[in-house]
Amino acid sequence: MIQTIKKVNRVYGELKLPGDKSISHRAVMLSSLTKGKSKVSNLLESADIKSTIECFQKLGCAIENPGNEYVIKGKGFYGLSQPREKLDAGNSGTTARLISGILAMQKFSSVLTGDESLSKRPMRRVAEPLRLMGAKIKLSKQESLPVEFFPSDNLKAINYELPVASAQVKSALLLAGLHLDDKSTVIEKIQTRDHTERMLNCEVSFYNEQKIISVSQENYPIAKEYVVPSDISSASFFIVFTLLIPGSELMIKDVSLNPTRTGIIKVLQNMGGNIEIGNVKTIAGEELGDIIVRSSSLKNVEIEKEIIPNIIDEIPILSVAGLFAEGTFKIKHAEELRHKESDRIKSLCHNYRLLGLEVDEFEDGFSISGDIKNKNIFFESFHDHRIAMAFSILTSIIFDESQIKDFECVSISNPQFLSQLKSITE
Ligand code: S3P
Repeated sequence: MIQTIKKVNRVYGELKLPGDKSISHRAVMLSSLTKGKSKVSNLLESADIKSTIECFQKLGCAIENPGNEYVIKGKGFYGLSQPREKLDAGNSGTTARLISGILAMQKFSSVLTGDESLSKRPMRRVAEPLRLMGAKIKLSKQESLPVEFFPSDNLKAINYELPVASAQVKSALLLAGLHLDDKSTVIEKIQTRDHTERMLNCEVSFYNEQKIISVSQENYPIAKEYVVPSDISSASFFIVFTLLIPGSELMIKDVSLNPTRTGIIKVLQNMGGNIEIGNVKTIAGEELGDIIVRSSSLKNVEIEKEIIPNIIDEIPILSVAGLFAEGTFKIKHAEELRHKESDRIKSLCHNYRLLGLEVDEFEDGFSISGDIKNKNIFFESFHDHRIAMAFSILTSIIFDESQIKDFECVSISNPQFLSQLKSITE
């Protein structure tokens, strides 16, 4: 679907966004593992979360949405049943990586598939440590999906230092470790989002700036009520939008403020962004609050290596902020962007080149400088929701009208993106 986006003059008012994608996946997964009935309110209703829900329904869990909240009847310790068909993670990397940790520990075999884009994304990073735990896993020739899981009699706890800063790999190992009596530890050199260890109440310690997370059967979840805060990654598109349009002010309510996710706010504030946080509270172990944003003049700043995992999903929209900021926007140490829903370094560079900008592409990042020379542009989304949304924001700031290809991909994380945009603009 080709979407036409029109120019916006002002952003104003209040917005309440859908639930956080990472927390929503985990709430469905953990509820499915427990014995009993869990309730999840403000669960994100998007294509990726639908993939997770359908996988656990195929594993025997009852997941329904009778009213305002989802009701999930989990199967308890080793209670999942063998699926009669392949499990399909769709476009969702989080579903594929996290569920692998669970499937690898089961006493039945299963097959996990995904769409064309997901089938190109790396799965060895998850399979390798799970194999060290004794799991029997067969990857495709490209070391990706489809993945086959077989029962193993030799499952054991591990101590594993993550070679890539990935919350998905960490979470897969923690979910696997839940099934074992002995304690497994996962060591992180650079911190990534910590929702899984929070939700499992894992023991966490720090040694020489490394984070050590322990898990065993003692952390097995029990049925409970989850309240999912609004997604800061979805909010970041509207934050940048408001900063860049003169005379704008927006309040975004009840947004997740987990410190492993708020890097985008810190970077934008360092760039000169007028962003205030208010009404902060903690619900179900996660911080949330209101974000108030006002138009600001921005200048580019150096983005440190350590913050990259914290802002990894926000880099597409951060680069839009950087394009309109004083100085050159440059991002490095972000090789992981090449393994997202699209190769985001390539996707972003392609669209910035369409604008006539000077673009330097590196293996682990890119820089953009110069002036916008072209208009009437037909942007590519590369079927990647965050690319489609980032260029919708960019175009509605400067062009009377332009088009974005394959726009339906926004349903991966925020199906209501366009109506939210309309509700706060004139
Ligand atoms: C996620 C972790 C990140 C992020 C993804 C969601 C998660 O991926 O990019 O959108 O929910 O754990 P990596 O952990 O692979 O960097």
